[in-house]
Amino acid sequence: MPFDSDSSKDKDPEQRIFYLNEKINRANRLYYIDNAPDSSDAEWDGWMQELIALEAEHPDLKTPDSPTRRVGAPPSGAFEEVVHPVPMLSLGNVFDEDGFRAWYQRTLDYLEIEGAQMVCELKIDGLAIAVTYRDGVLERAATRGDGERGEDVTANVRTIRSVPLALDGEAPPVIELRGEIFFPISKFAALNAEREEAGLPAYVNPRNSASGSLRQLDSSETAKRPLDMFFYSRGYVEGGDEPESHWDLLQVVKGWGGRVNSWTRRADTVEQVMAAVADAGEIRESLDYGIDGVVVKIDSLALQRRLGYVGRDPRWAVAYKFPAEQIETTLLHIHVNVGRTGALTPWAELEPVVVGGVTVGRATLHNKDEIARKDFREGDRVVIQRAGDVIPQVVEIAAGNERSADSVPYVFPDSCPSCGTTTVQAEDEVVTRCVDATCPVQFERLLEHFASRGAMDIEGLGARVAQDLPRLGFVSNIAGIYRLHERRDDLLELDKMGETRVDNLLAAIEASRSQPLPRLLFALGIPEIGSESAEWLSRRFRGLTGLKEATEDELLAIDGIGPVIASTVVDYFGVEQNQNLVDELIALGINPIDDTPEPSADHPANGLTFVVTGRLESMSRSEAQSRIKTLGGKATGSVTKKTHYLVAGADAGSKLEKANRLSIHVIDEEEFIAFMEQGLVPAAPETGPPGE
Ligand code: IVH
Repeated sequence: MPFDSDSSKDKDPEQRIFYLNEKINRANRLYYIDNAPDSSDAEWDGWMQELIALEAEHPDLKTPDSPTRRVGAPPSGAFEEVVHPVPMLSLGNVFDEDGFRAWYQRTLDYLEIEGAQMVCELKIDGLAIAVTYRDGVLERAATRGDGERGEDVTANVRTIRSVPLALDGEAPPVIELRGEIFFPISKFAALNAEREEAGLPAYVNPRNSASGSLRQLDSSETAKRPLDMFFYSRGYVEGGDEPESHWDLLQVVKGWGGRVNSWTRRADTVEQVMAAVADAGEIRESLDYGIDGVVVKIDSLALQRRLGYVGRDPRWAVAYKFPAEQIETTLLHIHVNVGRTGALTPWAELEPVVVGGVTVGRATLHNKDEIARKDFREGDRVVIQRAGDVIPQVVEIAAGNERSADSVPYVFPDSCPSCGTTTVQAEDEVVTRCVDATCPVQFERLLEHFASRGAMDIEGLGARVAQDLPRLGFVSNIAGIYRLHERRDDLLELDKMGETRVDNLLAAIEASRSQPLPRLLFALGIPEIGSESAEWLSRRFRGLTGLKEATEDELLAIDGIGPVIASTVVDYFGVEQNQNLVDELIALGINPIDDTPEPSADHPANGLTFVVTGRLESMSRSEAQSRIKTLGGKATGSVTKKTHYLVAGADAGSKLEKANRLSIHVIDEEEFIAFMEQGLVPAAPETGPPGE
């Protein structure tokens, strides 16, 4: 065995490099993944030094999976953008047994089955990462970003010891493995101590330090951080054998040398999942990484494919979140914020406390009624809670709270703290609003939202600049920022701005002109329109011009848009100022067109109406209906003269009779599948001889 002896020492450099590669990679794996080292640190250092020297002498012999690549590449300017070949999605949440039961039942109903095996995994509180291996060698690593596009952090991920630089054994020609990078809790305090010594700001929690460490421009900095990783799924794959289940996939990944969390277990019933969640809650404190719940996944990959996605969440997995951590503190003052839609939101200034690993000094008080109902007063001891990334909230008055003689109930302001206009609370709303559309603070918030990362992503236009620009008369509506370049000299006078920052800001504003339509629609701050509904509007109306004329009926016809959104959008464009704003944006050339091709436009099912009845063999009725919809067809519940096809499975009853009566074209499952998948239009039924 060549690896057991040092005999290659005298041989040619190529063999020696090969030998050292294997030796170090094997030691790394034993140390970092299997937790069973069989060599000393000194030996390891010796091999590494020798390899570095040899590679320096023979750079052409340095292999793509050389362990020296973990040491860190020269600093890069910034991270390149990576478009994820398969989007990186998020997970829906449940918080208790009822919620979980409901999720499981929905899943079974969708599939029309009685039960399904599941896999429970710890939900690691870190950063999602996608690592692509080509011919078994690490080629690229990317952050999740917004799910569609992330950042190329390959050089940095290479420095993480538990990420294999090359997969062991047979791997598909291309495979993207996904997982979570985290910063060990035990090393967190030491890192912050070091940073403070160096005059750098401390990280608020291990998760932030993982993200900070991974996004170092100089990967030799990342190499110094003890980052670690668990793999839990895969993304894009080319070739290779398809495992049957998620569980099998995890075993395969383990075999390739990827680190998979050993707590992972299978469950067949809700009770077993509940037991797993309870167990995870118990061991939580003893782990060296943060977890915020358990991820439950349907095990069969075939079922996963059938289940597919709703919006950004897979139907085949759910996050069972631990209850939020609660802690007591003193409510010092109650303040009221004005949001971009004029909503007045009360918030509490608190005596700072650490909850869920983060120091909290502010928490939301929700709304006026909540304060009155719970009688929160300044000076009270209160219970606050924080769950994951959720904004901390004041839950209740702490047991044993004592009030001083001068404690008085809180009086909610009846005028806008920004512009003084009398506020209103609609009868059916919990929100108190400032209804003055020209209220300056509303506009500042809108501007900040417009420029934010998920919206137009204008770096340099944060809260402070969003406040200064209107206050100093630079802009009076959103469109105004696209004229700011005419006033570069005046901007230079702004406090703390300076030439570089002004030029960077102007450049970022210019760059935002090419943001796609969904972002612009989201950025406008139309009430009720989030980034997802902005996408639906974009696909349907294709540009600002179409959207601003949209009718309620047209909006309601969009899948996912209900009466509330529809009427809000119509109301928004009914306001003259908003119409003017849109016209002004168009005049300034901010008029992106969504030319995403309609996936189903040329599918023959597009525009046709289907009814699905009876029991299908290969899919459930819900699945059949969602297939019809994705191809642009309509799936309705009852057979009428307008029905084009009745898809009849086994034991079809009254719908089949009615279809026959109305001479509706009836097709079976096989014809239906050929129609959907290959676009084969079913042959017209033979009509009987006249008179029959
Ligand atoms: S599966 C399509 N498994 O949780 C679903 N995610 O809330 C893909 N996470 O972005 C995710 N541990 O960063 C999965 N065992 C686990 C996880 C996990 C942590 C994170 C992941 C994801 C987020 C969703």
